[in-house]
Amino acid sequence: MSKLQFILETIRHPIKTGDILPSQRYLIEEMLKEIQVWNLEARPLGIVEFGGGEGALTKAIVDRVDKLRIDYKVLSFEINSRLAKLNRNRFSNNGEINGNIKIIEDCVENLLPYLSSGKYGIRDADFVISSLPLSHFSKEKTRKILEVARESLRNGGIFTQYQHFPTRYSIVRDFFNDIKVSFVLRNAPPAFVYTCKK
Ligand SMILES: C[S@@+](CC[C@H](N)C(=O)[O-])C[C@H]1O[C@@H](n2cnc3c(N)ncnc32)[C@H](O)[C@@H]1O
Repeated sequence: MSKLQFILETIRHPIKTGDILPSQRYLIEEMLKEIQVWNLEARPLGIVEFGGGEGALTKAIVDRVDKLRIDYKVLSFEINSRLAKLNRNRFSNNGEINGNIKIIEDCVENLLPYLSSGKYGIRDADFVISSLPLSHFSKEKTRKILEVARESLRNGGIFTQYQHFPTRYSIVRDFFNDIKVSFVLRNAPPAFVYTCKK
């Protein structure tokens, strides 16, 4: 059902939503592969998601950190209120929402004050996971988003981003020096994944 609603939102807002289908298994694995035990520190692991959509990636992030049996906080930003609501419903159990996960209905450009307010339990992120459709955005907007991603990360933190066409790769390089690029064929449509270390 949520997949169908995602498709409907793509028809309503094609530029912002970007994809006709939510991310699938192999792409999700590639996006999240850096979230591993070696990243653990004494504080909760802080993960920020850019463009949570109906929650295919959010759910995978939470499953992954749940398996690591650690303290964590996930903040998932989604600009579309219908999709944010769908995603929030995934994590409510009889009205109780898992307190480690916050689905925030706002654009990622506004992220930094959420972190600095201290209200969300993360002041800087260990991971920023982005499925924003950068190729649909202007270069200026892409720069703003990448600047926010870099600013929000601690030193050594990781930013991952996928794109179906590598049209914004040169801009990503302006913000991150250490980038690994991989290609996931087994996704509809296939995608490049940039794994960038701050
Ligand atoms: C390609 S979809 C990805 C959805 C989901 N994460 C997945 O991988 O299946 C991109 C999502 O980003 C959201 N979005 C677009 N611009 C945004 C912005 N500036 N801030 C937050 N979310 C945004 C769209 O509404 C859409 O749900």
